[in-house]
Amino acid sequence: MKIPFLSKKQSEVPVPYLNDIVPEHIAIIMDGNGRWAKTRGMPRVAGHKEGVSTIVKIVKKAVKCKVKVLTLYTFSTENWKRPKPEIEFILKLPKEFLSIYLPDLIANNVRIEAVGDMERLPAHTRKAIEYAMERTQNNDGLLLNFALNYGSRHEILNAMKEMFLDINNGKFLLEELDEQKFSGYLYTAGMKEPDLLIRTGGEIRLSNFLLWQLAYTEFWFTDILWPDFSEKEFLQALEVYRNRKRRYGGL
Ligand code: IPE
Ligand code: IPE
Ligand code: MG
Repeated sequence: MKIPFLSKKQSEVPVPYLNDIVPEHIAIIMDGNGRWAKTRGMPRVAGHKEGVSTIVKIVKKAVKCKVKVLTLYTFSTENWKRPKPEIEFILKLPKEFLSIYLPDLIANNVRIEAVGDMERLPAHTRKAIEYAMERTQNNDGLLLNFALNYGSRHEILNAMKEMFLDINNGKFLLEELDEQKFSGYLYTAGMKEPDLLIRTGGEIRLSNFLLWQLAYTEFWFTDILWPDFSEKEFLQALEVYRNRKRRYGGL
């Protein structure tokens, strides 16, 4: 069933108490789909399907709150360890989601991006994402960034390989290497680092997500399973963020 998206009018009404410190970049580890289904006596994949509805709700809220970047951990490099039918089900969801919501995303000025190793994904997943990226490339509203076949260690190793090739080819000197230059080799090149990380599902770990990029991010964990996560908890996380003091090692 399609969840109605924001009309232009709705997306222009400001959220009153969120006009000051909204995190520019929010990254979410959407965890707990399998357990959500299990407690209902349903197959795990039913949880993944329900999780897509949460994605729609949170994207809508992020548009309304004028978040600049929303990175969603959708499939990790470690998730290949799961049974094949579950993997196939998960990797069909991007296409399904985009075939329903791409027009709404376009209408709301959302730009789609992806981070991760796209090569190993099934062609239908890759093509759906690439098509959406192409169709939304000139939008300058929310950047909706899907982490797909994403693993932070893989990303960092890959970046190092490319960087050393460039150094060997004389593009720059090893002495010139700094954090900013290195960041430019990551999938997230040019993106602001996350201000807030949300993980649902009760686990307190990063599961190989954005290890470099989260160096100074604020973390917010909740036991709520992703399919049960709603706008209410999203706003709660933003409220907690608002009251955090970010010192970056200073005073
Ligand atoms: C997160 O939910 C979605 C993916 C990892 C793709 P899980 O499938 O990990 O759900 P749990 O953690 O087993 O409940
Ligand atoms: C992290 O969840 C990956 C995604 C949400 C896509 P997992 O369920 O795969 O992580 P672990 O196994 O609990 O570390
Ligand atoms: Mg999990």
